[in-house]
Amino acid sequence: MIFETIVTTTNADGSPHVAPFGVREWDGMVLIAPFRPSASLDNLLRGRCAVLNLTDDVRIFAGSLTGRRDWPVQHAERIDGWVLEGALAHRELELAEIRDDATRPELLFRVVHERMYAPFRGFNRAQAAVIEASVLVSRLHLLPAEKIDAELKYLAIAIEKTAGERELQAWGWLMEKIENFRAEQAGSNQA
Ligand SMILES: Cc1cc2nc3c(=O)[nH]c(=O)nc-3n(C[C@H](O)[C@H](O)[C@H](O)COP(=O)(O)O)c2cc1C
Repeated sequence: MIFETIVTTTNADGSPHVAPFGVREWDGMVLIAPFRPSASLDNLLRGRCAVLNLTDDVRIFAGSLTGRRDWPVQHAERIDGWVLEGALAHRELELAEIRDDATRPELLFRVVHERMYAPFRGFNRAQAAVIEASVLVSRLHLLPAEKIDAELKYLAIAIEKTAGERELQAWGWLMEKIENFRAEQAGSNQA
């Protein structure tokens, strides 16, 4: 099973780097598999640690795909890392094993510390829709426009029926990104 999380790592200059990753977890271990190239991968290999943030603030997922990565963080407790403010829970991770691969290496981490801040509040369809739309936006170059439109049309129903302010804002960022991508494509086709 894969869980969609926010992984925070530390850049070479000491600043935080925030990115969504789908991770697998079992027996106190976490597997993160970044596609190359990846700033998170560079940071993970250099620093050998990370924070796994569990959050229902879907703006952070949509934000990282639309150039909004500047989210408030605080220092981690046991490792040299960063915890997202407002996370429901976080786990601090130390690198245990690297399974190298030219396309998508697998990094296995040990959980060395975890903290819970707030309970799971239940499923929200608009949050799930934003996650799905974020995945579509991350594949804009790969997917046909008709497929994207058909999926967005369905996902928009959950947004209309169940979104709060954060979900509406995240959805707006993603729709703007798609519009801009298509405008750029149309421009370069005319040139
Ligand atoms: C829900 C979700 C899950 C993702 N999971 C992965 C993943 O497992 N591996 C990956 O390489 N990118 C994943 N991505 C895309 C990365 O978040 C995105 O490419 C990000 O910019 C990471 O690149 P960076 O390390 O250079 O910042 C995911 C994106 C979303 C929205």
